[in-house]
Amino acid sequence: MTIIKRVSSQDYSYLNETIAQAAEIIRNGGLVAFPTETVYGLGADALNPLAVKKIYEAKGRPSDNPLIVHISDLSELKELVSEINDNAEILINKFWPGPLTLIFKKNQIVPFETSGGLDTVAVRLPKNEIARLLIKESKRFIAAPSANSSGKPSPTRASHVEFDLSGKIDMIIDGGSCEFGLESTIVDVSSEIPVLLRPGSITPEMLKSVLENIEIENEIENFGIDTAVPKAPGMKYKHYSPNAKVTIVCGDSDKMITKIKSMANEYYKNNKIGILATEQTKDFYDSEKYLVLVLGDRDNENTIAANLFKMLRKFDFYGVDYVLAEGFAETELGYAIMNRLKKASAYNIINL
Ligand code: TXA
Ligand code: MG
Repeated sequence: MTIIKRVSSQDYSYLNETIAQAAEIIRNGGLVAFPTETVYGLGADALNPLAVKKIYEAKGRPSDNPLIVHISDLSELKELVSEINDNAEILINKFWPGPLTLIFKKNQIVPFETSGGLDTVAVRLPKNEIARLLIKESKRFIAAPSANSSGKPSPTRASHVEFDLSGKIDMIIDGGSCEFGLESTIVDVSSEIPVLLRPGSITPEMLKSVLENIEIENEIENFGIDTAVPKAPGMKYKHYSPNAKVTIVCGDSDKMITKIKSMANEYYKNNKIGILATEQTKDFYDSEKYLVLVLGDRDNENTIAANLFKMLRKFDFYGVDYVLAEGFAETELGYAIMNRLKKASAYNIINL
């Protein structure tokens, strides 16, 4: 059975009691899902190989896909990694705590079960208060991938975790909606030139503003892989996939709307169509015929990012067959939003 507890930082006595219970589960080698500022994580004691194995089982995740180790204080980093270079220092000073994961050469104490067999380890110092309290109180480093079933969109609310993993994990701490809603930006700082492996809320522009040089992993552009480990193509593709077939339509607003309407019309006959729209465009689509979901205001990409996974899950919930999604410009946060949308579509994109 999965214990589910809703906490708020207003009610401290209940929060402390819940954190104590969750910390005890982590110390005993169990699994606890918890909120972070990016997405919900599925946590286990990072230095306990048996506990870590349970994460892979619960998610149905291949065991060569490494986990992120979460710490609650910067002073803990040196226990996990063998080298912190100047670029790492710069990124840590600027962006930690926050939605940035860094890849370092690992120390021996990090088991290969956690690092997916690699000599490097991914580390993140989250900002979310509940996440940090849990790590601190458990007196452990917490390995945590996103708390979804492998292949589903990452969870941005406790109800998403419950839907995917209820009965498979010990506890879910419900701390409300996640602030950013996209998984952390990942930068590999294990060699001299930093490499962006996964785009996120710390944008390329933000990284370039503090680093002299940064490379973008080819595979982000090519087919959106989010790991440095070469994988079977089937794994790289369609990572954040709703059940529906997603098509992204990119271009000027007028052309985009016309194309989406004509495609919806074409598929309509025997299929359930979903349209992923924005405040600016929603009224152009027939909400009596189609499930029109609104991501938010185009001019506020923070909201778009925060709502994306929730909306993808909603299309599944309503059993939609085809989703037609509006595209976004691939600058700043739009780069990460489009990266996730492209994955959801298995790179099925129409450029007008
Ligand atoms: O925002 C986040 O990063 C969330 C929260 C819970 O912290 N976690 C998360 O974990 O998204 P996960 O496992 O869903 O994604 C981690 C990614 C995977 O694609 C994995 O392959 C990559 O990080 N990764 C982990 N360790 C790595 C390493 N040593 N080298 C290269 N990639 C690594
Ligand atoms: Mg994930």
